[in-house]
Formats: sequence, structure tokens, C-alpha cells
Amino acid sequence: MASLKEKLIHNVVSEQSLPQNKITIVGVGAVGMACAVSILHKEFADELALVDVMDDKLKGEMMDLQHGSLFLRTPKIVSGKDYSVTANSRLVVITAGARQQEGESRLNLVQRNVNIFKFIIPNIVKYSPNSILLVVSNPVDVLTYVAWKISGFPKHRVIGSGCNLDSARFRYLMGEKLGIHSLSCHGWVIGEHGDSSVPVWSGVNVAGVSLKTLNPELGSDADKENWKEVHKQVVDSAYEVIKLKGYTSWAIGMSVADLAETVVKNLRRVHPISTMVKGMHGVKEDVFLSVPCILSNLGITDVINMTLKPDEEDRLRKSADTLWGIQKELQF
Ligand SMILES: NC(=O)c1ccc[n+]([C@@H]2O[C@H](COP(=O)([O-])OP(=O)(O)OC[C@H]3O[C@@H](n4cnc5c(N)ncnc54)[C@H](O)[C@@H]3O)[C@@H](O)[C@H]2O)c1
Repeated sequence: MASLKEKLIHNVVSEQSLPQNKITIVGVGAVGMACAVSILHKEFADELALVDVMDDKLKGEMMDLQHGSLFLRTPKIVSGKDYSVTANSRLVVITAGARQQEGESRLNLVQRNVNIFKFIIPNIVKYSPNSILLVVSNPVDVLTYVAWKISGFPKHRVIGSGCNLDSARFRYLMGEKLGIHSLSCHGWVIGEHGDSSVPVWSGVNVAGVSLKTLNPELGSDADKENWKEVHKQVVDSAYEVIKLKGYTSWAIGMSVADLAETVVKNLRRVHPISTMVKGMHGVKEDVFLSVPCILSNLGITDVINMTLKPDEEDRLRKSADTLWGIQKELQF
């Protein structure tokens, strides 16, 4: 006897189509789920896969999202501890790992998260050998290097979210100071995500009008308007949010969805994200730091050559030395 489904539907093609814009998120903690929701609301993914090691949490999060299907345009949401659910991903966002404790530096987290990556990355590579990896877990620049090493992927397909969030915070705070929307406030925070990030004061502008030209002391200790504080707040804000609510999630989720959109739609927008910078700005080792990168569906295809002041380049090289000092000790 024909089932109701068979009575209702006359099947024409029996083969199943493969997803074209599948996104996997590894780690369904606060950050992973903020990324998931932000990506779903942007409506460019045709499949979302979630992976974690905590069975119940994973299934619960998947079901909760699936129940919102009516309000979304991503027809398939799957999850599992087994990485077969991630097969054919175009972009894999890695948010798994231990999170910063109150007052803990990002670098302290490192070896704990390297061990987690030793399990995750080979599984991703196995099921999505052509994917782009977007690392969010901290310390993000070191872990992007780790993901690159373990995956064997070409460097353009291994990206760290890097200073994408730091720059967004900077532009928000700049906007608050000027009473102008962040979108119209241009400024780049580059280098290492977090404590030693570098604000490029020479490039800060609104409508092409350089703030440094209007106020030559911008960003320096001599500046009476104390614009340096804007960058200090960028650095301090993660610690403050963690102190207040236990973790940061919404802004990183939205910033990751913005990067995912550039990849999936092949937009070639320029983002301050972490890439292999050996040979740039005097960096001599295999380290990942944020610089303005052209992002496409191939990954990072090009880097914009920023005109940096000598002290800005010095700070980048110092970060590179610090990161290399950590990386060369890592076991993987
Ligand atoms: N790059 C940035 O700008 C930025 C911003 C915020 C947070 N972060 C980082 O993102 C990471 C996640 O933060 P969170 O607040 O979501 O932490 P969380 O503790 O809420 O979630 C982490 C998740 O990872 C899972 N996990 C652990 N080991 C795993 C494994 N082997 N495979 C799969 N999943 C595993 C855990 O079960 C947990 O669900 C942290 O490293 C944090 O520092 C980065």
C-alpha cells in the first residue's frame, strides 16, 4: 500500500543533491552557537553541521535550531560527534576548545587547545579536503598556525578570525566618540589578536579625511583627546565582557558570519584576518598575524601592503617573535 507521502508526492528524480554552501561549526559553546545563529540568519548556507564532544548539548542545540527552520532558509541542520556529518563542507569554523578563564591570557590556553586540534583537524581534512578552515579558538593566531601545520592545507585555505573582532570593536568605539555609524568609521587593528594588537593610526579616517592629519598626536601619549584609550578599550573589552557575562559571544558570532558571507559569495572584500605573514613587514618565521586580506571563495588570495610606521612594524615583529617563541615549543 502506498504511504501518505507516496500518495502526496510523485517522485521525479531520486538522486540526492550535494550541498554547495555547507558550513560546519566545530564546538557548540557560546561562540560556536553565536556563529551558528548569525550564519543562519544571513541565509547563504544550504547546510549547517555542528560537531562537539558533548552529546546532549550537541543534540539539544541542533534540535533547538531545527525548530526554528520555518524562520530560516537553511534546509538542513545536522550534528554529530562523528565527523562524517561534516562531509563536503565549504567552510569549517573551529570554535572548539577551552575558553579563557577570568583574567587568563589567551596564550595560556595554548597547549590545551593544541591537543584538541590534533583530533579535530585530521577529521575535518578527511571529510572536507577542499574546505577553508576558519579558526576562532584562542590563542587564535597560534592555533591557526597549528591548524595549518596539522591539515597540510595550502596557507590560503587556513584563516584565523584574528583582528576582525578587534577592528570591529575599534570602529564601534570610534563611532561612539564621533557620533558616526561604525560602517563610516574606518580604522584597522592588525597584528596579534588581543593584548598586543596594533592600531594603525595613520589610516584612521572618515570619508577619506585622515584623523591623524587633523590631530597629529592621534594615538600618542601627547594626545589631549586621548584617542589611545580607544585602542586600550579594544584590548580590555574582551576581559571586561568575560568578567561581566562569563564569555564573549555575539560580536564574534556576527564577525564570523560576515567572513563566511565573503567566502560563500566570493565577495573579495578586505578583512583584518590572520594569515601567514612570513616575508611581510620583516617577519622571518612561519607565524600567522592579521593584516588586511582579500578574501574570496578560494580563501585569502592576496594581502594589501599597508604603509606602516617603523614603530608599528616593530610591534608586529615583536608579536611575531613572541608567537614563534611559543610555536616552536609546541608538540603536535
Ligand atoms: N577569536 C576571537 O576573537 C574569539 C572571541 C571569543 C572567543 N574566542 C575563543 O573561542 C573558543 C570557544 O569559546 P566558548 O566561549 O564558546 O567556549 P565554550 O567552553 O562555551 O565552548 C567550547 C566548546 O568546545 C567543545 N569542545 C571541546 N573539545 C572539543 C573537541 N575535541 N571537539 C569538539 N568540540 C570540543 C566543548 O565541549 C564546548 O562545547 C575559546 O577558545 C575562546 O577563547 C575567540
